[in-house]
Amino acid sequence: MIVTIDGPAGAGKSTAARQLAERLGFEFLDTGAMYRAVALAALQQGHDWQQADRLAALAAGLDIQLEPGRVLLDGEDVTTAIRSREVTAATHYVADNAAVREVLIEKQRAEATGKNVVTEGRDQGTIVFPDAECKIFLTATASERARRRLADLERAGTTASLDEVLAEQNLRDERDAQRACGPLRQADDALVVVTDDATATEVVDQLEAIVRQKM
Ligand code: DC
Repeated sequence: MIVTIDGPAGAGKSTAARQLAERLGFEFLDTGAMYRAVALAALQQGHDWQQADRLAALAAGLDIQLEPGRVLLDGEDVTTAIRSREVTAATHYVADNAAVREVLIEKQRAEATGKNVVTEGRDQGTIVFPDAECKIFLTATASERARRRLADLERAGTTASLDEVLAEQNLRDERDAQRACGPLRQADDALVVVTDDATATEVVDQLEAIVRQKM
């Protein structure tokens, strides 16, 4: 069974999707981590973002392993590095590149084939797994999402103001929505879950109930 969870940055998708997968005994596919890992590799290799046609070859040559609780890039643990503001800001070059998306979509489908998976991203229910048995669109208001992102950054030892975080988030929302390939869009058959007034546990409870109904 494939459960897709799509939605904007900061809606609490990663935490909810990971915990949901644990409760169900499903594998968890954090597709944003794949886009981030390609961006990190490109930054490390001094890739020129103007050379968009070279990015797909770079992506295809990477070994990205999504293990429980950590992400490995060519064997190196990059779990924390892919969450830096620098990588977050550069990832749109990767996400906007149609050829890179094809490479990563193939990886995502290969990871999910024949398995029970909770997969999380922007295009999982619309493009990558249009026939998924259960589709969820997880969202929250912009201010609530920015507040959560700021708390995450502070926990990771980064200082930023709420205004800065909100401005970066607005830019990312705009890019996610306007992307020519794989834009953030709610699948017609997705159930919408708004997380503003719910604790993380309440969100997972709600998601689990939705999935179990479909099992
Ligand atoms: O969910 P996240 O913030 O880790 O995602 C990182 C970036 O990758 C974000 O800019 C959106 C993009 N992304 C995407 O285009 N398609 C996906 N399936 C997942 C993420």
